[in-house]
Amino acid sequence: MSLLQSLQKNALPEKYREMSTMELEERVRKVKGKLGEKLFIPCHHYQKDEVFQFADATGDSLKLAQLSQDNREAEYIVFCGVHFMAETADILTTEQQKVFLPDMRAGCSMADMADIHQTERAWEKLQELFGDTILPLTYVNSTAAIKAFVGANGGATVTSSNAENMVQWAFGQKERILFLPDQHLGRNTAYNLGVRLDEMAIWDPIKNELVFEGPIETVKVILWKGHCSVHENFTVANVNQVRQEYPEMKIIVHPECSREVVELADLAGSTNFIIQAIEKAEPGSSWAIGTEMNLVKRIIRQHPDKQIISLNPHMCPCLTMNRIDLPHLAWCLDSIEQGEERNIIRVDEKTSAFATLALERMLELS
Ligand code: 13P
Ligand code: SF4
Repeated sequence: MSLLQSLQKNALPEKYREMSTMELEERVRKVKGKLGEKLFIPCHHYQKDEVFQFADATGDSLKLAQLSQDNREAEYIVFCGVHFMAETADILTTEQQKVFLPDMRAGCSMADMADIHQTERAWEKLQELFGDTILPLTYVNSTAAIKAFVGANGGATVTSSNAENMVQWAFGQKERILFLPDQHLGRNTAYNLGVRLDEMAIWDPIKNELVFEGPIETVKVILWKGHCSVHENFTVANVNQVRQEYPEMKIIVHPECSREVVELADLAGSTNFIIQAIEKAEPGSSWAIGTEMNLVKRIIRQHPDKQIISLNPHMCPCLTMNRIDLPHLAWCLDSIEQGEERNIIRVDEKTSAFATLALERMLELS
């Protein structure tokens, strides 16, 4: 199939754009009711409310991976999240189960910052520089091919909620770590475990070179030069502004934020950690949250007894998460009901086998 044909096949039909919200919701309810247990809709915390309301389960990346591994009943898994999450679900489910992504354009700009060819090139060079002393770890926000590469080389995946455990585990296996593709999560995690900033090098995949000042044998962590374009929008200036305007306010951020921001914040953790911290907080307490806007808005609505703002007053949406909207969800479910095979995420067998190694090493330790 040509690229144009594939884009046309995956493009939302006009009639779904023209339907009212009520009509779309009715369609979703109807298919859900009809398929019952055969259908499972896992949903990430960053999803829009119009989609989130139909979730059978919600969670952070780790929980959604665990749920996919545990669910053996559903024939159709309609994943409301981004591409790498749906790939993970496909890897962890059985051959008979089908995983769907309501909009195939829902990628992740961070996952796009590391491709398998760059990774293989990097690995070759790093082996020349450091010999067999490196264990690769990849944030789940990466392609299935990179997970497979990591699995084949003895490494594992990590999520923002188990990164410390996994980095600790990795140091029990090898002297050094290559951490893909998010330099910030890698740096923040290693730093919390006592690795000094001057023991961390950066791998630049565009220039295909290691960036490090100092004796090379002192490198403990090699950070892939990738980042999240949403979380990079939370800055030291935002923190200073909040500290000045609301001296009592607590600042809580996702570890995809830069080291400087995490250092100045009061707390940092996964989406699940953020949700729980606010749930446990005293009524009347005040919070500035540094993470994606759909989640921040939901937390604000759920806690009218607390004063909550976004750390960045201009808020930061994840445009790719937002691609999963009610019209795409309704279309996807209608297609399943009509037996049409579209928007299926399928990881090939060989990639899946090696990626499973990386994912299972993580799931066993989580
Ligand atoms: P969590 O694992 O914290 O849900 O984060 C996923 C993600 O993509 C954050 O940008
Ligand atoms: Fe990817 Fe960032 Fe969006 Fe998370 S918030 S899915 S890391 S682009």
